[in-house]
Amino acid sequence: MARFTLPRDIYHGKGALETLKTFKGKKAIICVGGGSMKRGGFLDRAQKYLEEAGMEVRIFEGIESDPSVETVMRGAEVMLEFEPDWIVAIGGGSPIDAAKAMWIKYEYPDCTFEDMCKIFGIPELRHKAHFCAISSTSGTATEVTAFSIITDYARGTKYPIADFEITPDVAIVDPELAETMPKKLVAHTGMDAMTHAIEAYVSTANCDYTDPLAIHAIEMIQADLVDSYNGDMAARDRMHNAQCLAGMAFSNALLGIVHSMAHKTGAVFADFGAHIIHGAANAMYLPKVIAFNAKDETAKKRYGVIADYMHLGGKDDDEKVALLIAYLRKMNDDLNIPHCIGHYGKDSYPTEQGFVPEEVFLERLPGIAARALEDACTGSNPRQPSQEEMEKLLKCCYYDTEVDF
Ligand SMILES: NC(=O)c1ccc[n+]([C@@H]2O[C@H](COP(=O)([O-])OP(=O)(O)OC[C@H]3O[C@@H](n4cnc5c(N)ncnc54)[C@H](O)[C@@H]3O)[C@@H](O)[C@H]2O)c1
Ligand SMILES: [Zn+2]
Repeated sequence: MARFTLPRDIYHGKGALETLKTFKGKKAIICVGGGSMKRGGFLDRAQKYLEEAGMEVRIFEGIESDPSVETVMRGAEVMLEFEPDWIVAIGGGSPIDAAKAMWIKYEYPDCTFEDMCKIFGIPELRHKAHFCAISSTSGTATEVTAFSIITDYARGTKYPIADFEITPDVAIVDPELAETMPKKLVAHTGMDAMTHAIEAYVSTANCDYTDPLAIHAIEMIQADLVDSYNGDMAARDRMHNAQCLAGMAFSNALLGIVHSMAHKTGAVFADFGAHIIHGAANAMYLPKVIAFNAKDETAKKRYGVIADYMHLGGKDDDEKVALLIAYLRKMNDDLNIPHCIGHYGKDSYPTEQGFVPEEVFLERLPGIAARALEDACTGSNPRQPSQEEMEKLLKCCYYDTEVDF
């Protein structure tokens, strides 16, 4: 038996934010990030709409990018004191993910972060509050997913919390919010969405319910991401839907080792002054992982189907896989994303000498590989790598060398 779970309601299209006016409840807490939602006027509007619905509103602001365990615990304390019956998270993946984890702690104050990280082990929520997610970036799709990614900075690693309990009750996918994204954010979040769709399609947990969502998302992202990056606002609006479709697919079909590797490399070099941004990490590792996974016959066929839907040509599956890899690398070029960690600059742009020194990478490699193998996304990857293969794969992602194993 398999399960397919989505939010009860997904409001989409311009003006969808206004649906907050129709919410029923007494108290709502709005969880928000560093300021982009305030600057765009969206935070004020959300507050006003909830007040129009007759609710008392409290705002929890300042949730940082790649939110920490500490932020989650602080937010939960505010919730325990305020006792909201609606949690409304607005912004990118970071504030929404943080609010999901706060929700668990609010409903179960004795629950530790370790408890939360037990995959599909979250107790029943919704005894105290319902959850609405309003996304402002076009990538993570956390507004419809069963996941929350929290960073434990003491360990320098990201932990996925995964359970359908944290799938939001309501998602609001209003493209107006995404129109203020700077170019770099469009590029990174867009390639995150492409990775979600491709990993979901080849995942061992794919099914008839997730395949059409994944394939349609891939077609849309192929058609619209680069145009959106170059300022085409109609394409930007369509990307907001495309990433959400990809999210519906991967929330139910799960992901693969591109994400395992991105989770474990994201914050591990923070002592050298930067993070490898989630979407950029995915964009760099995806072509390498496709080459690795394509040694599995079923995965190779599925990559071939993706290439067909993308009209890439190729007379057999080997050629189709090669064309898919080449196409994705070209997308990275068009979006100013490097091809490997060795050329990943502090500002995320391609550079001759990246911010991660080679000797540091090699020294940390065994640990990163081991943690990537343990990541929750590894289990559904079509080909299970050994420790040695994971290290080799990560090396290819550092040096941009060919994957031939
Ligand atoms: N839960 C999931 O299923 C899932 C999936 C993939 C990634 N993630 C996680 O999500 C996080 C990344 O989220 P993200 O990529 O959405 O970015 P983010 O939420 O970290 O935001 C990045 C920056 O963009 C700004 N911003 C957000 N929306 C904006 C807008 N419309 N206009 C201008 N600026 C805006 C923010 O203020 C912030 O400074 C990571 O922690 C990642 O691991 C979660
Ligand atoms: Zn992702």
